[in-house]
Amino acid sequence: MSHTWRVLLALILTLTTAAACGSEDESVPEVEIFSWWADGGEKAGLDALVDEFTERCPGERFVNGAVAGGAGVNAKQELTSRIQRKDPPDTFQVHAGAELLDHIDAGQVRDLTTEYDTWGLRDALPAGLVDDLTVNGKIYSVPVNVHRANVVWANTEVLAAAGITRTPKTVDEFRADLATLRKAGVEAPLALGRDWTQLMLLESVLISELGPDGFDGLFTGATAWDGADVRAALREYAGLLDYSNRDRDTRDWPQAEQLLIDGTAAYQVMGDWEAADLTADTYSWFTFPGNGTVFQWLADSFVLATGAPNPEGTDCWLRTVGSVEGQRAFNARKGSIPARTDVPGKGFTAYQKAAMKDWRTATPVPSCAHGSACPQAWQNVINTALSGFSADGDLTALQNSLATAAGRFVRKP
Ligand code: GAL
Repeated sequence: MSHTWRVLLALILTLTTAAACGSEDESVPEVEIFSWWADGGEKAGLDALVDEFTERCPGERFVNGAVAGGAGVNAKQELTSRIQRKDPPDTFQVHAGAELLDHIDAGQVRDLTTEYDTWGLRDALPAGLVDDLTVNGKIYSVPVNVHRANVVWANTEVLAAAGITRTPKTVDEFRADLATLRKAGVEAPLALGRDWTQLMLLESVLISELGPDGFDGLFTGATAWDGADVRAALREYAGLLDYSNRDRDTRDWPQAEQLLIDGTAAYQVMGDWEAADLTADTYSWFTFPGNGTVFQWLADSFVLATGAPNPEGTDCWLRTVGSVEGQRAFNARKGSIPARTDVPGKGFTAYQKAAMKDWRTATPVPSCAHGSACPQAWQNVINTALSGFSADGDLTALQNSLATAAGRFVRKP
């Protein structure tokens, strides 16, 4: 081969490798993808989706805008200040439902209705979910998954050592098992973390106490927060809190999960992003006791930000997010299930196959801790009230704060 040919070949190789890798080449336009998936199974899911993006969108360069912190506690604050400074990322993660409405109302996200039609997304996604992304007939985000919130994860070795073989069917049975564990030497058998994880526990208890319709009503104004049934649920919640680790307010969900992994705790109530971490057969899971066939759902979605520096590149990202391959790759690593209904179950874990089946048949209710049921400002107030309760145990103050918050935030039709 002549020298000229060798130089040409080297040039072609360099160019194609750069394109295939999404490229470190700074002349390639970048798409900044903002999320809170910075570690563990969450990052693994994002990485898989980015691989798919890189393959489908060779003219674009992925820039990771992730800000660590479970449920977006830090990311959401950072996003707000970036939007205020008029420095939005191209696209950001946002929960379907009430949280997305916050962004739509503030004009921070662009209409994707045309893209939906071009990409055939209306038919590929469940109609109820598309409704949660729609305002005045316009659709504003592309969901990548559906997560289930009302799941209890268990360390079966810790349970076996305490002689527990049953799956508790009611909150009373659950509390009795926690008492058995404590007697067996597991001082804090229920692993718990900070504010929003406490809200997840409370929501599960509320579903058991009020049933799906009563629970839904808490966020539409149909169920009163100052009623006797909510009071009973709060008492049950307080009873469960007694079995949790005292340092709960200092732990994010992965640090609470670590207690389960170490065998310091036996149970954790957490969404099924935990399924991405607990892959060993020493863990089991069950729907929160008393929740029956309720599937408490939340969905992560991505938007085209108003003022996005690279809308064409973002379109390619969103198309990847909505694709069969993108959703397969992402969800296989993330623990969630595809939002699309046409992704085959092959390649997913037994847990995920069960969740896919349940999602088709169970009773869906939304989540406040993860923004499908209530907007961010409402979550903030509840989280503050729960942190207060975690410290002072004042049940009346807690119920008053919850009732006042509902009065402020329920959306009037
Ligand atoms: C949720 C999010 C999940 C997972 C979880 C823990 O809000 O929807 O994808 O990331 O937080 O961080």
